[in-house]
Amino acid sequence: MKNIDSIGHVRGESIYLDDIPVRTGTLYALVYDAPCAHARIKNVDYSKAEALPGLVRILTHRDIVGENEIGNIFQDEPLLAEDEIHFWGMPIALIIAESEYIARQAKKLISIELEELPVITDPREARAKNKLIAPPRTFKMGDTNSAWAACEYIFEGTTETNGQEHLYIETQGAYAYPTEHGSIRISSSTQGPTQVQKAIAKVLGIPMHKVEVDVTRLGGGFGGKEDQATAWGVLVALAAQILKKPIKYSLHRMDDMRMTGKRHPYSSDYKIGLSKDLKILAYEATFHQNAGASADLSPAVLERTLFHATNMYSVPNVEVTAYSCRTHLPPNTAFRGFGGPQGMFVMEAAISRAANELGIAARDIQARNILQEGDEFPYGQKAEKCHAQKVWNTTLKHYNIEEIEQEIATFNSENKYYKKGMAIMPVCFGISFTNTPMNHARALVHIYQDGSVGISTGGVEMGQGLNTKMVQVAMAELSLSAQRIKIETTNTTRVANTSPSAASATADLNGKALEQACKELKKRLIETAAKHLKSDNSNITIENEFVFNNNKKTDIDWEKLVQLAFLDRVCLTENGHYATPVIYFDKAKEKGHPFAYHVYGNSITVVTVDCLRGRYEIDAVKLVHDFGKKMNTPIDDGQIEGGVVQGIGWMTMEEILYNDKGKLLSNALSTYKIPDIYSVPKELIIKNLETEGHPLAIRKSKAVGEPPLMYGIGAYFAIQNAVKAFNPNYTLKYDAPFTPEKVLMGLYEKVEKEAPVGAEILN
Ligand code: MTE
Ligand code: HPA
Ligand code: MOS
Repeated sequence: MKNIDSIGHVRGESIYLDDIPVRTGTLYALVYDAPCAHARIKNVDYSKAEALPGLVRILTHRDIVGENEIGNIFQDEPLLAEDEIHFWGMPIALIIAESEYIARQAKKLISIELEELPVITDPREARAKNKLIAPPRTFKMGDTNSAWAACEYIFEGTTETNGQEHLYIETQGAYAYPTEHGSIRISSSTQGPTQVQKAIAKVLGIPMHKVEVDVTRLGGGFGGKEDQATAWGVLVALAAQILKKPIKYSLHRMDDMRMTGKRHPYSSDYKIGLSKDLKILAYEATFHQNAGASADLSPAVLERTLFHATNMYSVPNVEVTAYSCRTHLPPNTAFRGFGGPQGMFVMEAAISRAANELGIAARDIQARNILQEGDEFPYGQKAEKCHAQKVWNTTLKHYNIEEIEQEIATFNSENKYYKKGMAIMPVCFGISFTNTPMNHARALVHIYQDGSVGISTGGVEMGQGLNTKMVQVAMAELSLSAQRIKIETTNTTRVANTSPSAASATADLNGKALEQACKELKKRLIETAAKHLKSDNSNITIENEFVFNNNKKTDIDWEKLVQLAFLDRVCLTENGHYATPVIYFDKAKEKGHPFAYHVYGNSITVVTVDCLRGRYEIDAVKLVHDFGKKMNTPIDDGQIEGGVVQGIGWMTMEEILYNDKGKLLSNALSTYKIPDIYSVPKELIIKNLETEGHPLAIRKSKAVGEPPLMYGIGAYFAIQNAVKAFNPNYTLKYDAPFTPEKVLMGLYEKVEKEAPVGAEILN
């Protein structure tokens, strides 16, 4: 089935926040944000700005009736700065004007007196100064301390991964207007409508039922609107409450880039120990997460780093510790993979390092350590219905890895200034919010008198194709054609207490709730049919919009059936609820069964490096992916393609730069490069792993949103192998992104006199 949004998108008819027709009297908001990263505010002079014609009001924390607090996991994030600035771009005041232009002019007239304070941008420095968001967490299995003695080879090192700008095409924004009795209605570009509702209630000092949040769709979220859509929603709601006028705020790109958090940069240490026959016996890692100025989702992201620290490998002795470090950067946040990619990169770096020291291919180590059915993850869950071995073997066989390696060797021997490199990147990703209580959802289904159906779920469409999948679920459960089904906007008054659309679990959670609602409605309709046909419920079926009695088509079609039920006063509305069974996690022990299931995949990345210029092209990404019983090929393949390219961007070209004063230098698309049509792989081949699917996945079709991003990690190692092929003196570095500048430096790096740091081969 085609994505139901395609036609609207192509025609420009789809409605995003900025397309909502504004009401008469709408005013425009603009944040006045901090011009430095850490300071005490001595005085802010708004008088000149306030005198500007068309300026309506400037709001500060003093105007807040409720609490000046929008932190979710921890309450450590003021909406508007009070006495202290914690990051460059921190909102200080909200300018409200008759037009956006006037608001921007007014902003230039505000002056501020500051006492600047020392700025920390480096997570290791923050850890040394004990500036932590929360106490560190450690996942432990076996005993690494005693395992080292049994290791033939031990390697230690450090790695860096940089952040990543979400660059959703639609920037952050919200539109609020007051309704009756002190209530507020708000449209928000958010992945988490309930989160916005909750924060508005708290800041405005009103109960949640007075706040209605509505979301039509997002022009991309990628995690950047899981928690960080909240501030903008609360700001416009605050202004609507005070001024009793509709207030709109749609951020400009540079404002969005400056003021919002991104993927967390990590600085990590690893130690890996192998037996003579390349079995990984022990693995230790310490992760320093650059959380930014407040917690946001950092503790949850940190947790997923630990969950995925050993990726798709079975390691008997593991000890991994993670520190969430408070710095003076904008609070970093969810980004596709949610800490998983950062953890997996370190593991792959350790393997790459070991392979290079031992003069073998990384795949020799990878192959020897692939997870098997029944193996235990460091967090206590066992690998069940484990497709790791199958996905590994299928990839190597299907794409003929020996032939690929041979082609690369031949190419490299025949070409002096072009070198190819290859890397294999397996991925094992756990599906469920790691925070068990978040794994539930609801769906509200109305069957109208004419037989048409309206569906509301707690899920948000952000380009991932959720709405299409929801239509497919209802079609299957009610045996209806797509035209009869409409997906409503996501609205907190129709579906309350939603978890954000995240963790790749939206279709599973909301789809299962929808299934349940549809099943219940179908049961009622079958009862109606049985009654009118004087038959038994068990004899009745509904197929292709007709009622069948004892497998014989009757003259009751869908519309007639709905009419009969309505006249019989049967309830044609149902609210479905679903909570993932089985899962739990005990944080005291750091053990449990946090995931409904795992998604497995494996990929081969081949690159060509231009050794005169340091540029590179991604020749191919060839992968085998465990979709389960794929319910929508164009959508799921689209998720793979987008994820792979986004992952490659993170690993190769997207370079976030803050100066040591905490100012974002890569603050526009002229200084922050994301993949374009020329930088995507020349060839991207997706093969389905044939499996029977998982019962906890929606229609056995496994979650697909985040896992493919991590295939992109292969690009880093493939480029590194190509550089090594050109310059044998190149010392391996694990410092992503591998930008063309770094490639060029690596290609012409001279021999170092000392042995590479940390190289240690025992015996
Ligand atoms: N695909 C598109 N087109 N746009 C997005 O914003 N977000 C990703 C992924 N794919 C995203 C996307 C992220 S971070 C997640 S968690 C999932 O989609 C969320 O949707 P799902 O739970 O329905 O997979
Ligand atoms: N994934 C994505 N988002 C989340 C999670 C998670 O595991 N936990 C809380 N928010
Ligand atoms: Mo996705 S990072 O879980 O929004």
